[in-house]
Amino acid sequence: MTESLVRWGICGCGSIAHRMARALAQVPGHRLGAVAARDPHRAAVFAADHGHPQVRETYRELLADPLIDVVYIATIHNHHYPLILQALNSGKAVVCEKPLVMTEAQARAVVDLARAKNLLLIEALWVRFQPAVLQLHAAIAAGRLGRLTMVRSDFSIGGDHKLPDRKHDLTRAGGALLDLGIYPLALAQDFLGPIAEIVSLGEVGGTGVDENLGFVTRHVHGGLGIGTAGLRGVGTIAMEIYGSEALAVSPCACPPREITLRTGWGNQTLEVLRDDSGVDGFVHTVRETGRCLAEGRIESPRMTHAQSIELAHFLEVTWRKTGVAYPEVDLAL
Ligand SMILES: NC(=O)c1ccc[n+]([C@@H]2O[C@H](COP(=O)([O-])OP(=O)(O)OC[C@H]3O[C@@H](n4cnc5c(N)ncnc54)[C@H](OP(=O)(O)O)[C@@H]3O)[C@@H](O)[C@H]2O)c1
Repeated sequence: MTESLVRWGICGCGSIAHRMARALAQVPGHRLGAVAARDPHRAAVFAADHGHPQVRETYRELLADPLIDVVYIATIHNHHYPLILQALNSGKAVVCEKPLVMTEAQARAVVDLARAKNLLLIEALWVRFQPAVLQLHAAIAAGRLGRLTMVRSDFSIGGDHKLPDRKHDLTRAGGALLDLGIYPLALAQDFLGPIAEIVSLGEVGGTGVDENLGFVTRHVHGGLGIGTAGLRGVGTIAMEIYGSEALAVSPCACPPREITLRTGWGNQTLEVLRDDSGVDGFVHTVRETGRCLAEGRIESPRMTHAQSIELAHFLEVTWRKTGVAYPEVDLAL
């Protein structure tokens, strides 16, 4: 990698890959160098939309490309694990979409490999890197909310009208938890710290995936996380963080552009935290990756390997308890 330019490759040319390609075009010092899809024609169409990066015939060819520094994995969930292993074994830094992998054992395996290879591995939980979230952390550190007691959030999108789609497909690792519920869980982890235990209830639909779900987490250093996620009901993407002195609210946690700190019953606004960056939220993932590479890190301080392993553990506990039976082949090491 040259010092001034980070060259990215994208594996999987689906919906979220377009957003990352657009973000890469906005950040100086980063360039989309090559793309690959299962079907090279699809990759060629994608490349034509995004400034004509090189098109590689296969994922394997992309991962072996000596001109690529970082691979962004944008495939469906059950394909993350083998691709992360291949990418790290090819000497690439990896930014992988959430959820990192399907099980805790897989998370430990990819983290072990990243450490052994001394390569950056980031679970692309983009909310972690958003300016308003960083401002909120600073406000909390300055004592603005007092002692945190609860983090409540929802990610429910409805969407029965859009059937059939990936989220309802067990063989494509669908389900409300892995696609959506991961956000409330990760938010509680981010603000309340390590999770001690989780209690959850969910409903499995006709296709075998969880469609409706709620959980409560208790955290090692105190506080409760309360999260809901759903594919059935049209809900919110809102968050509320309660402290002993004040609360923080945002109508949209994914990502929050504006967070209001206010008193409870009095409803008095204390401060409004705003993301004035004026860029798409994925730009912050790109910038975080650039920072980590420049500092020689193998993990992001905002989304550490320990946090990814912990998330994988509690996601796995939850989908297993809900009764979702993902194909064994997707859970294997
Ligand atoms: N950060 C966010 O806001 C956000 C939002 C949505 C999704 N995501 C995450 O991004 C990732 C991709 O989601 P998406 O919505 O972009 O998914 P998608 O468009 O349905 O699929 C992404 C890619 O996965 C591969 N794929 C699809 N079906 C497959 C199958 N049956 N077998 C093998 N490969 C298959 C395809 O790669 P090819 O192009 O190579 O064929 C496809 O382009 C997921 O991890 C998801 O959770 C993140």
